[in-house]
Amino acid sequence: MNDFTQIVVTPGKPVQVKTNPTTYPLIGKGLQGAVFRLSEDRCVKIYSKEIYCLREKLVLKQVGEKSAIVPEVYEAGENYIIMEYLNGPSLQEYLKKSGVISEAIAIEIIDLIKELRSLQFMRIDFSLRHIFYDKNGKLKIIDHVNSFRIQRSFPKRLFKDLKQLGLLTSFLEHVNNTDSDFYEQWKKTLKTMY
Ligand SMILES: Nc1ncnc2c1ncn2[C@@H]1O[C@H](COP(=O)(O)OP(=O)(O)O)[C@@H](O)[C@H]1O
Ligand SMILES: [Mg+2]
Repeated sequence: MNDFTQIVVTPGKPVQVKTNPTTYPLIGKGLQGAVFRLSEDRCVKIYSKEIYCLREKLVLKQVGEKSAIVPEVYEAGENYIIMEYLNGPSLQEYLKKSGVISEAIAIEIIDLIKELRSLQFMRIDFSLRHIFYDKNGKLKIIDHVNSFRIQRSFPKRLFKDLKQLGLLTSFLEHVNNTDSDFYEQWKKTLKTMY
């Protein structure tokens, strides 16, 4: 019988899937949980510790009420959340493949940052691996276990990921052209970093 509650996930770096008697395929795992695809448009994240589940539930619920930048939640338990499966690609995959960053994508990223600011998010930052296109072609951010715990107004992780792909300079050029206010805000901190 396909019962995802039979799946056992234990702590580790990344977490370990100890038992999976189901046929649901593993999509990915990280430090807090393992994600399995349940259907065409749903997946379940099973956490190694209930506290991680509680934290992510809180973020997804609070943010989801006001905004569409997080996956939709269908059901949640003590150690799992059934949420919208984002077919992707992730921005990391997309940009790696294309090798360039267009102005349109730079604007989508800026808009995402603006939305995080207007939602008064603690963490105005995300990894390219954690942003996905949804079925309507809108960007959504996953992995919110620590979103209310990390205080960060400068998108350090995002810049690191862009730099790794060789796209940071190009991204910042687009930012400067389309929203020089943003660029000015970042310029100072950037100088101290690179
Ligand atoms: N809603 C989702 N849709 C598609 N893929 C997902 C979704 N949630 C997670 N994933 C995949 O599973 C991986 C692990 O999930 P993540 O939330 O980052 O776990 P952790 O909190 O342990 O880091 C992600 O990097 C991503 O590849
Ligand atoms: Mg993760």
